[in-house]
Amino acid sequence: MTADPNRTEPKVSHADLYHPSDAVKRAARIKDWEAMSRYAADHPEAFWAARAEELGWYRKWDKVLDSSNAPFYKWFVGGKCNVVHNAIDRHQSTPKRNAIAYLWQGEDGSERAIAYGELAREVGKFANVLKASGVRKGDRVTIYMGRVPELPIAMLACAKIGAVHSVVYGGFSVDALHGRIQDSSSKVVVTCDGAFVSGKVVELKQIVDDALKRENGVTRVICFKRTGREVGWVEGRDVWWHEAMKDASPECATEQLDAEDPLFILYTSGSTGKPKALLHTHGGYSVYTYTTLRYVFDLRDDDRWWCAADPGWITGHSYIVYAPLMAGVTSVIYEGGPTYPQPDRWWKIVEQYKVSVLYCAPTAIRGFMRFGPEWPRNRDLSSLRLLGSVGEPINPEAWKWFYENVGGGRCPIMDTWWQTETGGFMITPTPVLPLKPGSGTRPFFGIKAEIVNEMGEPCKPDEEGYLTILAPWPGMARTIYGDAERYRQTYWNRYPGRYFTGDSARMDADGYFWIIGRVDDVIKVSGYRLGTAEVESALVSHPAVAEAAAIGLPHELRGNTIYTYVILRAGHEPSPELAEALRQHVGKEMGPIAKPEKVEFVAKLPKTRSGKIMRRVLKARAQGLPEGDLTTLEE
Ligand code: WT7
Repeated sequence: MTADPNRTEPKVSHADLYHPSDAVKRAARIKDWEAMSRYAADHPEAFWAARAEELGWYRKWDKVLDSSNAPFYKWFVGGKCNVVHNAIDRHQSTPKRNAIAYLWQGEDGSERAIAYGELAREVGKFANVLKASGVRKGDRVTIYMGRVPELPIAMLACAKIGAVHSVVYGGFSVDALHGRIQDSSSKVVVTCDGAFVSGKVVELKQIVDDALKRENGVTRVICFKRTGREVGWVEGRDVWWHEAMKDASPECATEQLDAEDPLFILYTSGSTGKPKALLHTHGGYSVYTYTTLRYVFDLRDDDRWWCAADPGWITGHSYIVYAPLMAGVTSVIYEGGPTYPQPDRWWKIVEQYKVSVLYCAPTAIRGFMRFGPEWPRNRDLSSLRLLGSVGEPINPEAWKWFYENVGGGRCPIMDTWWQTETGGFMITPTPVLPLKPGSGTRPFFGIKAEIVNEMGEPCKPDEEGYLTILAPWPGMARTIYGDAERYRQTYWNRYPGRYFTGDSARMDADGYFWIIGRVDDVIKVSGYRLGTAEVESALVSHPAVAEAAAIGLPHELRGNTIYTYVILRAGHEPSPELAEALRQHVGKEMGPIAKPEKVEFVAKLPKTRSGKIMRRVLKARAQGLPEGDLTTLEE
């Protein structure tokens, strides 16, 4: 393997073993991890069928798994279902209808508590609004909103009528949004007038308006009023959420769908070209997310679950919206920035709502570490019983800080490795497994993971290689929307019969997995997934730029940060002002998260003879590391 300078170096230390307490073991749903793991490995279809039996179906499946057209696997073939049936409808005839689905807090301190019964009515009403806007089964709807309860309501309303939602993260901007609206050929966009984040207003409606100045087929924009600030308005196209909802009926039958009918598409960055839309389906995704959430976080009726991710990423889709509602738990959603107005905002929320399980990203933890342990310590966090981490490798130092200062040394940390493509947790502890800080421990039940070398041969313990998955699982993305061939090429061609994750990893002698990082041109910045190609195309869209290259470099707080190298067009001179203007330009086109840390002007870029930029060489140079094999370099 080529050495990737952009990586963390987890230390495999056997001394650092954290055993679960008796209290944790007593409470755990899965007590005998080994037995369950063996059973699922030997009888995967029986294992998944039993999990599917725990959910409601309109019609039972004929076949658990159909591999006849691999890698386009099908699960629960012949089954009829709808994720909304399990997330909402099923609860209406039980006392659950009075239980709280979402406890929401705005950054300005406003609060809402939404019971399952009210959620059902709101989703029914918005489903009728969508129908009245011309949305039919199979149509795509783009959702671009802040962190308000109306975001899950809009997603669920789409699912209810069999429409396919495409949520675009509210931190993305004009170009990224426009590309996703166009690629999905959405006719309807759901948005907000704005969002409150870290003391500022994100002008979501303005960004939608700017995106829709470019070519598009959008006939309706539905706008939820959050900030009350003045926004632009296109008569005939734009309607207010509250006005459309006023006369809408809450009665709307949930569409009875095939298990393999699409539920949503979600765009994510790949190694080359434009972002790809991973497609997930109703049946398998429901079974997989529901099972993983309940087994890994052991959720029960009296839990207060807080997944602090954004609903706009896969973490939020699976573990703020669909799985927690299917499991019937109470979730916390917080609108704003983690340290606004003070660094204890999160800990105040945990104290106030008695959060029992907190699931967040390492970058957030590293951010809190900078302010010192007194902020969590001065709050009552005794309601917590489990913690979780996701999005990037967690460095052992951050792990221990989180464990001690937030978890009070009592709460095991579930470090869950997974991807937009996998739908749910893949390599993850359950509460009974002994933990090693920095390791996601072992594959989930029914998941066959293996680390292989360039030739596809299994690596020895502690040897670094590519992480691959050997067998299908119900939560897997079924395809890339509109580009099935790219799906096959990207994930299944490198090692035939195996899913290629794009990550490098090591397995130690205990069978514990240690994720090292991406081996492709994906950069994880603060846990957010960005592609070098997108940043480069944003730069090249600036009139001064002839060519650009983007790389990720290690960063103490954000995990990685973006460095860019720019060749200017004739007539433009390098200057600090131009570098700053280019940073701002990328922020405006793609979103603030994509703003490069540094723009460096260069006369040429290292390229292969076929003209491909050798980012590996740029990375090595930037870090003063050996440049490796340069035989393919053009000059
Ligand atoms: C990539 C997927 C999974 C939801 C959020 C990210 C990295 C994710 C971990 C973890 C080490 C992790 C991988 C993966 N990653 N979780 N616990 N430890 N790395 O989803 O945006 O599709 O990104 O995130 O590199 O491939 P995503």
